[in-house]
Amino acid sequence: MSMLMPHLDEAKKRTKKEVKIKKYEIPENLKTLGTCKTYYVKTYGCQMNVHDSENIKAILEEMGFNEALDMESADLILLNTCAIRENAHNKVFGMIGRLKHMKEERPNIITGVCGCMAQEEVVVNEILDKYSFLDIVFGTHNIHELPEILNKAMHKNKIEVDVYSYEGDIIEDMPAKRDSKYKAFVNIMYGCDKFCTYCIVPYTRGKQRSRRFGDIIREVKSLKDNGYKEVTLLGQNVNAYGKDLNLEYDMSDLLEEAAKTGIDRVRFVTSHPWDFTDKMIEVISKYSNIMPYIHLPLQSGSDKILKLMGRRYTKESYLELFNKIKKTVPNASITTDIIVGFPGETEEDFEDTLDVVNTCKYDSAFTFIFSPREGTPAAKMKDDTPLKVKEERLHRLNELVNKYAREANEKYLGKVVPVLLENVSEKDGSMLAGYTDTMKLVNVKAPKEMLGKIVNVKITDVKTWSMDAEIA
Ligand code: 5AD
Ligand code: SF4
Repeated sequence: MSMLMPHLDEAKKRTKKEVKIKKYEIPENLKTLGTCKTYYVKTYGCQMNVHDSENIKAILEEMGFNEALDMESADLILLNTCAIRENAHNKVFGMIGRLKHMKEERPNIITGVCGCMAQEEVVVNEILDKYSFLDIVFGTHNIHELPEILNKAMHKNKIEVDVYSYEGDIIEDMPAKRDSKYKAFVNIMYGCDKFCTYCIVPYTRGKQRSRRFGDIIREVKSLKDNGYKEVTLLGQNVNAYGKDLNLEYDMSDLLEEAAKTGIDRVRFVTSHPWDFTDKMIEVISKYSNIMPYIHLPLQSGSDKILKLMGRRYTKESYLELFNKIKKTVPNASITTDIIVGFPGETEEDFEDTLDVVNTCKYDSAFTFIFSPREGTPAAKMKDDTPLKVKEERLHRLNELVNKYAREANEKYLGKVVPVLLENVSEKDGSMLAGYTDTMKLVNVKAPKEMLGKIVNVKITDVKTWSMDAEIA
């Protein structure tokens, strides 16, 4: 059995080794491996994973596979997993249990696990121990090798594990089967070197590797030429773009160049407050096609907890940055991520977080209870706050967050704003759904012919998480 197991100690390492840029290529003889077969990819987690799944789907189609309508009818089922918190992890193991039943009923199907959980040593050990009916396990660093991995798996009847824990390369020219015809994700960097003490990402995604400026801009231009209206520049920590390359350009230059391609909308996620420069704020305010929407994770409002988290900013410096953004880009909507119940968080620390929320009045926020991830420093910190107390804090935080989210939405009532109409509304077939430049979800009474267009709409009703509108 050939096996390449993930290793936690390897995944932690950061060396000066040069990052290689490799070109994706599918071997000629593997282009028919999937003929007459179907696949289903189930995606968990963040936009990075969504985009990885777009690459995986396109690679499978190059091998001759077709997309199945549902999991139950597919010949190949892949779970692209997320490791960020325990509940994501548990959901995946629940689904692996379901795959076991499917495999019993249809022994010829191929089943596999990839993504961030596949990069975790504990997870792969558990799979080998209890779920070795799976056919393939591959990681985030070797998606481009999927044709070879599948080929090996299809010619043996034992689990094939191929997961690298090295720091990672950059793979160019991977195909993508994009979920949308109008908006697209563009990776600008991979990995993360920040090592916030609670976070598994630096271990599952490897070291920070920025794509070359020219490759990114070429991709944006080609998307524009193909009718795309919006690109989202993607990275774990996009503000640090280019820092690993030692070149003169940085994220502000990249944003500016992306804007100059003339594509209608440029977005970017996720920002770390540490690397947010004044120049970036200026570029955002200068170009009308850089969307005034910034996701600025706070995590905690307590200096003591921020230090324990290894976040490298204080409540004061965060607020200073927040105010600078609001002053320079007055129409910006700002959202955030907050963790409650980090080890050592007292009621007073938590109140510091509430205080920041009261000051910033975020447009919306993703809130989480701290989840210890094996191998991260925070998982070893003394944590004596009862879960009940953490749940109660989360509840109080959510009440406040929702109040401000609603207030932010209410300001839109009666206003006319541009929306990119992306799809037919899930709730009502006569409505189209899309987002404002500030990333507000809007359901618009409009004919299907308007799909893919950016149109001015008048907001007629607001709720906490969405708004209704009609064509203005
Ligand atoms: N526990 C809880 N939340 C976490 N996040 C990341 N790691 C953890 C963890 N171990 C949250 C952070 C991050 C978002 C993507 O997920 O808020 O910004
Ligand atoms: Fe995780 Fe983001 Fe911190 Fe990187 S910057 S370690 S991805 S929370």
